[in-house]
Amino acid sequence: MVAFSPYEILNRKRRGEALEAGEIAGFIDRFTAGEIPDYQMSALLMAIAIQGANSEETLALTRALLASGESWQIAGLFDFIADKHSTGGVGDKVSLVLAPWVAACGVKVGMLSGRGLGHTGGTLDKLDSIPGFRARLTKAEFEQCVEDVGCVIATSTEGIAPADRRLYALRDVTGTVESIPLITASIMSKKLALGASALILDVKMGNGAFCRDLETARALTRSLIEAAAGSETRIEAMITDMSEPLGVACGNANEVSEAFEVLAGRGPADVTELTRAQAARILVLSGRFDESSALRELDEARSSGRALEQGKRWLAAQGADPESVVEGKLPVSRDTVEIRADRGGFISKIDAYGVGMLAIDLGCGRRKQDDVLDHGAGIMLDRKTGDQVRDGDVIARIQIGKRAADRDELRSRMASLIAIGSQPPPPRRLIYETFKQDE
Ligand code: URA
Repeated sequence: MVAFSPYEILNRKRRGEALEAGEIAGFIDRFTAGEIPDYQMSALLMAIAIQGANSEETLALTRALLASGESWQIAGLFDFIADKHSTGGVGDKVSLVLAPWVAACGVKVGMLSGRGLGHTGGTLDKLDSIPGFRARLTKAEFEQCVEDVGCVIATSTEGIAPADRRLYALRDVTGTVESIPLITASIMSKKLALGASALILDVKMGNGAFCRDLETARALTRSLIEAAAGSETRIEAMITDMSEPLGVACGNANEVSEAFEVLAGRGPADVTELTRAQAARILVLSGRFDESSALRELDEARSSGRALEQGKRWLAAQGADPESVVEGKLPVSRDTVEIRADRGGFISKIDAYGVGMLAIDLGCGRRKQDDVLDHGAGIMLDRKTGDQVRDGDVIARIQIGKRAADRDELRSRMASLIAIGSQPPPPRRLIYETFKQDE
């Protein structure tokens, strides 16, 4: 028998050769067992990021990551339970709105969320900004929360795809995040381990996402769907805009606050519209609604206050004071730097990647794995693309947290991320494509 040689496998992948499923599984198993060091794993990640991987290799990687941990298969525990996942963006708080909104319509939602990656925010980091909120739940607690209040958002526990957790950390610091096979295996190993009845994938596209153009977003979407081959989970996907941040708030505590504003019927139109569209697909997939009754139910849940009440019950079920978000008790920094328009006109562009990177520097995300976040820091985009502004209007605010900051430098950096034109830009297209299951 030929001895397993990480060195040979690395050389072959570097040359662009396809690896066998057994070689990929062997590499991941040995890495998980501590027999392959981080530097060899990082080399494989870089080789895959550069050379790509075919569908069989991507499937093998997904299955190897899945097999490194537990498999919860929550679909077997409930009549129907939905999951939702975003490939990552800036200002993306859709999950925080969607879970209670859908649950308020009588359809269960269970999600496992992660920390921010690269310049993108993470739902777990946002939830960690709510005093008392417990995201680290056991499987039994996760189930109990769904039983009690109809929705839950927890973090991927140690048990779910532990190999992905270590790969994720390596990718974050080795420039290997933006790779379709690596993103696919990372996301789908966790989604398949959770095993919901249905999953909505929000594939973000634009300069604030890992896919910058439609062609790449389509390739990622197809790859994500293919990696679920043979699973019981029904999958739908949407390619959605991330060429500017979603909503007004970018950060952590400020995004939670905005999510509850949307539940209360007041939040920004883009967050509302996108969440409503994804929530409607979940209601349809549950088999209890068609598209138009789903939208009616969602609108009624919000206008009647049921969605907000559901949000509060969900917070309480996961240990937080339900009034903490609605009474403005979140730790949002009040020390702000205002950015004003230097001329009249129309906001024509907001650089989502730049906003994401600035948010990291403010303490909303990590530069290094062990960085401690400043949940109160953030950015408020008071004016969005298409808005008309007058010279001197406040167009954005930076919420300075605990980090020392040069206010003038922050002001000019933020101003450079927002373009003002003399003509209104074309209307923003929020949803590019929807990949539906046959109904
Ligand atoms: N989300 C994940 O869980 N993994 C990735 O690689 C990208 C986004």
